[in-house]
Amino acid sequence: MVSPVSHKTAFFLGKGGVGKTTLSASFALTLARSGQKVLVASLDPAHNLGDALGSALKNEPLTVEPNLDAMEIDLETWINTYLEESRSQLKSTYSYNVTLNLDSLFKILKYSPGTEEYAVLWAIEDIHCRLSPLYDIVVLDTPPTALSLRFLSMPTISGLWVKELSKLRETILEKRSTLVRLNPESPVKESCLDKDDDKVYGKLSTIRQRLSMLEHLFQKESFINVIVNPDELSVTEALRIKDELDRLEIPISTICLNKKGVLNNEWHIHQSLAAIPMFSFDFESSGIRTRDQLIQLGTQHLVDTFLDKRSIPA
Ligand SMILES: Nc1ncnc2c1ncn2[C@@H]1O[C@H](COP(=O)(O)OP(=O)(O)O)[C@@H](O)[C@H]1O
Ligand SMILES: [Mg+2]
Repeated sequence: MVSPVSHKTAFFLGKGGVGKTTLSASFALTLARSGQKVLVASLDPAHNLGDALGSALKNEPLTVEPNLDAMEIDLETWINTYLEESRSQLKSTYSYNVTLNLDSLFKILKYSPGTEEYAVLWAIEDIHCRLSPLYDIVVLDTPPTALSLRFLSMPTISGLWVKELSKLRETILEKRSTLVRLNPESPVKESCLDKDDDKVYGKLSTIRQRLSMLEHLFQKESFINVIVNPDELSVTEALRIKDELDRLEIPISTICLNKKGVLNNEWHIHQSLAAIPMFSFDFESSGIRTRDQLIQLGTQHLVDTFLDKRSIPA
């Protein structure tokens, strides 16, 4: 039997100010009002999803209207969780190494490159594993492009590293076995020789599984929308997103041209984006302040495409 493609998660990506939060909110509202149970979550450290929906939001889902729950992820909490997990793992693994000052190491780690994108990644994992089963659809409003591209590439890049580390660990275990075969009295015989019993190998395998689940989510189970405005800068940024996602084998489902008619700027849609289905949303000169105005933006055709795609057999 062929199972349907489980596109359950929708992402809105694009340059700051193009309308990621607005379209995420509009898409989620339209889905909810058509009877789907929806969670819309903001991953942007500078939240404004609550403003767009006219509700104060928290780090856990709150019902904003029937069928629609919304939340704003608190990245600081996730950064602390990630650091705490790493700290306790390192402490238990290297408890004998008293010279390593873990506390000062973690003060540095908090501001190190990579920490923020890992925090976003584990927040997405939590939404995917714990919350997503409670909803028909999850909509993710994303941070600015640079951070979004970093967290989207993290599973693939870290996955490669972890694979190499696992191989290295296997080599170490094989060398230990060889030493014990050559000299059955070798003190190495006290160490772990089998990868099934090896704690380090086990931890690496767990990380690998978590990363590969997220890679699969981004590559195969997501409906990715890239938003542009009628201006060259936002189109250039969309091209950058396309290039990066191509390399990661993450397909873009739609290009959303938002604020159509805003200015008579010189702009054109690049050829490599023109091949992707495009949806247009007019510039509302009176602004978008209410939920009814979000609905009037007209995301229904985007919702229909998304729901159609979900029911196509794999
Ligand atoms: N189609 C539109 N017509 C008029 N204003 C819009 C439209 N789309 C977005 N806006 C406004 O543009 C601003 C930026 O939108 P926002 O969704 O916050 O962008 P992003 O999340 O990409 O930074 C907001 O004030 C929003 O109300
Ligand atoms: Mg936003």
